[in-house]
Amino acid sequence: MKTLLVTGGAGFIGANFVHYWLAQYPQDKVIVIDALTYAGNMANLATVNSNPNFTFVQGDICNTALVEQLLRAHSVDTLVHFAAESHVDRSITGPDAFIETNILGTYSLLKAAKIVWLDNKDTGVSNHRFHHVSTDEVYGTLSATDPAFTEETAYAPNSPYSASKAASDHLVRAYHHTYGLNVTTSNCSNNYGPYHFPEKLIPLVITHILHNEALPIYGDGQQIRDWLYVTDHAYGIDLVLNKGRVGENYNIGGNNEWANIDIVKTICTLMDQQFASNSALAAQFPKAAAAQKGDSASLITYVKDRPGHDRRYAIDATKTNNELGYQPKESFETGITKTVAWYLNNEAWWRAVMDGSYKDWLQKQYDAPAS
Ligand code: NAD
Ligand code: DAU
Repeated sequence: MKTLLVTGGAGFIGANFVHYWLAQYPQDKVIVIDALTYAGNMANLATVNSNPNFTFVQGDICNTALVEQLLRAHSVDTLVHFAAESHVDRSITGPDAFIETNILGTYSLLKAAKIVWLDNKDTGVSNHRFHHVSTDEVYGTLSATDPAFTEETAYAPNSPYSASKAASDHLVRAYHHTYGLNVTTSNCSNNYGPYHFPEKLIPLVITHILHNEALPIYGDGQQIRDWLYVTDHAYGIDLVLNKGRVGENYNIGGNNEWANIDIVKTICTLMDQQFASNSALAAQFPKAAAAQKGDSASLITYVKDRPGHDRRYAIDATKTNNELGYQPKESFETGITKTVAWYLNNEAWWRAVMDGSYKDWLQKQYDAPAS
């Protein structure tokens, strides 16, 4: 039995991880610490909130004393660190929060873990683990013909977001080498699925189609991302926690590369099919082009490129596959179909998110369409 402290558990991947973990290991205890920034949402945890093995604490990971107190009060043995500023576009317009949370926040957690687990050893926990959730973006960008990123690929982050994640990865590594903290790090590719904040490409496209709003494609739309269904990320972290070697990095990915424009066209087709097969959708979303038998792809609009936009990410997960027996359970076809269905069935969730300050932020991001 484990007692987990999950940072950022009210965000997209953190919440999916909490759902996964409590379903998989119902005897375990899960404590979430989350600052509830614009990306954190208690609605993401509504289905576990009454579970007696679940505790939510609103707090900032930069508050080392609070983290120490939680590690002690609950005799936590496993810390799974998701909390971060996670959106590349926001890191370009406002890097401060990324430095604060991603670098100083991770440092604060490491300090607390070292004090409680290594220096004082007063919680009776003999086998601790600090698992750090990182990204493939720390490896930089690939050309169309480069081999995919392995755990040996040199770090070359290109955005303030990925640089802040790279810095946090290095701190985690250093706490293992210098102090002997039991750490693991996973570097995952782009996730998609339920509770994905609608500033990110896939949920943005789905919700814009329903509002009949432009689908903004940065640059030429030929940038490539390697998409993984979010529960398969949670499963990968589970394997790293239970079978991974301390001090190691593990890549997690689904071998599923898509050019942005192709993924957007695929979602348009799926949405049009949903409207064609379910007449109730036209009444629910009357603004959508598909409600009038129109073509959602007509909303595609090329806009100015993201500054420093990485061209291609691709994960080589051979080490994780061979060493931990990892294979994603969801195909892209099943994963994206489930995701579209989730957004169609959870209008209240995304409407509440989109009615907030996010909407104003998003509006400011759109430049005039490129010629
Ligand atoms: P998210 O933005 O949806 O959620 C982040 C969560 O962290 C939110 O609940 C937010 O309130 C919380 N948070 C932010 N600052 C905090 C602070 N100072 N103290 C406490 N909580 C704070 O992010 P996500 O997409 O779920 O990503 C989770 C982690 O996974 C991040 O570390 C990210 O770098 C990594 N990751 C994301 C992806 C992806 O495709 N989204 C892929 C690979 C890795
Ligand atoms: O690779 C893992 C990373 O994936 C995570 O570390 C990040 O936290 C996560 O946000 C994600 O980063 P991306 O920048 O790849 O995701 P995003 O959804 O913002 O964009 C995906 C691609 O789509 C990217 O090439 C930019 C492009 N894009 C995005 C938006 C929001 C568009 O063309 N138009 C858009 O409106």
